[in-house]
Amino acid sequence: RWLAGLAVLRGLHLMLLLLGRTVPLSFVHRVTTCCPSSLSRPVFVSSVLIKLRTTTSASYSTVFVSAAGQNTGTMPERRPFVRLPTDVYPVNYGLCLKPDLIDFTFEGKLEALVEVTQATNQIVMNCADIDIITASFAPQGGEEINATGFNYQNEDEKVTLSFPSALQKGSGTLKIDFVGELNDKMKGFYRSKYTTAAGEIRYAAVTQFEATDARRAFPCWDEPAIKATFDITLIVPKDRVALSNMNVIDRKPYPEDENLVEVKFATTPIMSTYLVAFVIGEYDYVESQSSDGVTVRVYTPVGKAEQGKFALEVATKTLPFYNDYFSVPYPLPKIDLIAIADFAAGAMENWGLVTYRQALLIDPKNSCSSSRQWVALVVGHELAHQWFGNLVTMEWWTHLWLNEGFASWIEYLCVDHCFPEYDIWTQFVSADYTRALDLDALDSSHPIEVNVGHPSEVDEIFDAISYSKGASVIRMLHNYIGDEDFRKGMNAYLVKFQHKNASTEDLWDCLEQASGKPIAAVMGSWTKQMGFPIIVVDQEQVSDDRILKISQKKFCASGPHNGEECPNWMVPLSICTSEDPKCTKLKVLLDRPETTITLSGVSPDQWVKINPGTVGFYRIQYSSSMLESLLPGIRDLSLQPVDRLGLQNDLFSLLHKQADMQEEKNRIERVLGAISAPDLIQKVLNFALSSLSHIILLCLYFILNVIVE
Ligand code: BES
Ligand code: ZN
Repeated sequence: RWLAGLAVLRGLHLMLLLLGRTVPLSFVHRVTTCCPSSLSRPVFVSSVLIKLRTTTSASYSTVFVSAAGQNTGTMPERRPFVRLPTDVYPVNYGLCLKPDLIDFTFEGKLEALVEVTQATNQIVMNCADIDIITASFAPQGGEEINATGFNYQNEDEKVTLSFPSALQKGSGTLKIDFVGELNDKMKGFYRSKYTTAAGEIRYAAVTQFEATDARRAFPCWDEPAIKATFDITLIVPKDRVALSNMNVIDRKPYPEDENLVEVKFATTPIMSTYLVAFVIGEYDYVESQSSDGVTVRVYTPVGKAEQGKFALEVATKTLPFYNDYFSVPYPLPKIDLIAIADFAAGAMENWGLVTYRQALLIDPKNSCSSSRQWVALVVGHELAHQWFGNLVTMEWWTHLWLNEGFASWIEYLCVDHCFPEYDIWTQFVSADYTRALDLDALDSSHPIEVNVGHPSEVDEIFDAISYSKGASVIRMLHNYIGDEDFRKGMNAYLVKFQHKNASTEDLWDCLEQASGKPIAAVMGSWTKQMGFPIIVVDQEQVSDDRILKISQKKFCASGPHNGEECPNWMVPLSICTSEDPKCTKLKVLLDRPETTITLSGVSPDQWVKINPGTVGFYRIQYSSSMLESLLPGIRDLSLQPVDRLGLQNDLFSLLHKQADMQEEKNRIERVLGAISAPDLIQKVLNFALSSLSHIILLCLYFILNVIVE
């Protein structure tokens, strides 16, 4: 199954290459393959092969356990994962790197200011595929001691530096000289190939550190909670562009080689290692200033600066949106966006230097609106991380879902604000929301929040459940709280934890304070258990009141839930009527298996709909009479497009489950037919019109030909 999955992916990849297209993100996330683990999960198409390779070489291999629970010994035992010791931690990294773009190697010098919290004669750091040449430690004002041993624990991606005497409590400077390879694996410090206008093949040096690959570029404390400042210097050929997180503060000839220059960057704010980045290559750029005074540049391949203009427009609109939404200014003086030729993910939010695959470039003459929309969303996503992720960082990878789920929701809020003409929320429903419901209804799904131990497990949680279900439940939360209190809570969270680390619970606390609502309890029910409920609704008219009988049960694609105990969700429900289909008439929190709600002032001829805006992460099963009553709203289109979309999606998924109930099936099909009808007519009309225009063009062409002849 695994090999078959791989073959399918390879086929798809080939097909895309033949079509000469870059893989758009929506596609990337949708491709699934059968992995050795039990979860069938989305993977990045372009990084599949690498991931499979690393899977086979990893020592954290599966333990085969017998029915009696004993290790059968066929595979090596899983070693418990241990975080780095805290007796020595970094305060500032002085890092100088000299890449060789011909031999694909680099030399590095680290001069880190560290704090020893407890006397020790060892320093344990992360380090992978790097050779340390020398290491020494000098206590502040004291004498330098050389390390006498470097003990690499390759499987743990760690190195232990041993010193002949104990390093005493207090500050000191750790110096390490090392060399590494500019690899071709699209992670760590790697090479990216491009062809010049004259047809010459050249290489750029670029980085991709998330989640745990900074350790491939320099020895470091590569955990998100171990933050420090960085002073970065790059020694590069004088005709190349050198970029890093901060602005350049000095550029001078390199004394040992007249072809090189030494480029020094300003000190970064305190930050996590996975957000550090550098790029050395040949690029053009377009530049602008955002209304809040940040210099924005989009770097493109040489000769393609024009194609960076759309991303520049998006970024200059996006930055002020987030400044205003979070009420926290962007803390760096500049932000660069760069399109990289070889790039495994869709984009990466390195602080101040966001890297993208080349789909960032928009050819003004030959691009379609879906490409522009992708660019708007992806820029909106990565710039949101500059606050949510970079300024306030997750304490550990367990909270990664929040980082990605939040950015995957707010990117839409931002694009809707900057480009209202895109009607982007409808796309959220048709892409992320319905995909998340489909996947999460499978028995093979998993809770959004999963404990991550060893970083090799991080890759497994970068999936559609983290991204699309994560975004969907945050959207539901935003709707439940209301924008005003949500913003208040967000601001409190960002201010309280800025330049620090936080957990999912810390965000819930801030939102709870701001709204006075039980956020932790509500959200826990959506993030800690997999799946979602189906809300079963029936109605009764009592004079001018509509009485709704509402209950919840787990929705399973495979048939009725038959586990021991049916899980319960705390479901924020909203209800609208035909009186004002765009407006929520009532909001309630369903915190038990069933309840009765009275809607007053609803006449018998009005229809009632649950979940206006298709915001709640659940499906709805209406009674026959309720479903039938929605038909007029569907036919006269007063039921909003996202509502029709949500209803259609629910009914499709229910249709499979009602296979034995012909009458109900017919009813559902009638409603589905009504939903699709206006669309179908529109399609037929569009087709007829476009055929007509083709015929007219052909006629003109023949007439012109005749005239010319
Ligand atoms: N932080 C991720 C990039 C990432 C993903 C790094 C996986 C390492 C492993 C970034 O913010 C992201 O989510 N990128 C998306 C694009 C976005 C528009 C959803 C991607 O790469 O698909
Ligand atoms: Zn992201």
